[in-house]
Amino acid sequence: MKWQSVIRSFGFLGLLVFLPPAFAAEGEAFTESVVIFNTICAKCHEAQCSGRLSFDQAFEKSSSHVLRHYGQASGKQWLQKELFDILNFMKEKCAYYPIQTPIPSKRIWKTDILDKFTTFMERNYFIPLGHFTPGQYRIELELEKDAKVITHLISGEFEMALEDCYLSTDRRVNIPVRIEEPGDYYFRMYPKTPVRILRFSILPQESNGQQGLKTLM
Ligand code: HEC
Repeated sequence: MKWQSVIRSFGFLGLLVFLPPAFAAEGEAFTESVVIFNTICAKCHEAQCSGRLSFDQAFEKSSSHVLRHYGQASGKQWLQKELFDILNFMKEKCAYYPIQTPIPSKRIWKTDILDKFTTFMERNYFIPLGHFTPGQYRIELELEKDAKVITHLISGEFEMALEDCYLSTDRRVNIPVRIEEPGDYYFRMYPKTPVRILRFSILPQESNGQQGLKTLM
């Protein structure tokens, strides 16, 4: 097959360039690779922007390293290669690997989208939220059961707007957050025990006056 030589010469990203977009868009697993990278590998490799690519010898050598941090990639050569390519993308472009996804118009995400942005076992989440202007916002999470979760709101420039741990009450978590810089944002979650997000929203928060009034009523 021609593809294999394309893969050998250009890596998986090369394959995406050489194949019609329909192929890339179909790759559900590919979104999961990005989520795995941006939750598990990101703990050490986030914002590595050396500009230099790692070459194929590094891929062979890194295999045991990758498996140590993500044992579930064992026997999945394609996944290991994708993770490697995603790291290279970050190094070269100093950016998150792009993921095609619709942003719900009201900024309320339901399980149809949410379930694509999670790792199956750990239930780590990495959700692209689209573009935001500076202001005060409120994140609301509805979980399948009560849990303790670590949450991040992070910009495309790797700036954390939120980095905190919450315990849900009645399966809900309510997080006020201030966005200072305009740009693309991503929500990341690490639950202490695996838990599914049933609903996620991030909405502009009313001014303090209205907020106070609501609390009184
Ligand atoms: C606990 C920290 C940590 C985690 C988690 C981690 N790595 Fe690494 N990784 C390192 C360090 C340190 C190096 C060696 C120094 C370097 O090249 O940045 C490295 C090197 C690599 C290399 C070789 C890069 C090169 O240019 O030689 C690859 C590929 C790699 N890691 C991929 C991954 C992937 C994929 C994951 C997720 C499954 C992952 N790593 C998770 C710390 C980590």
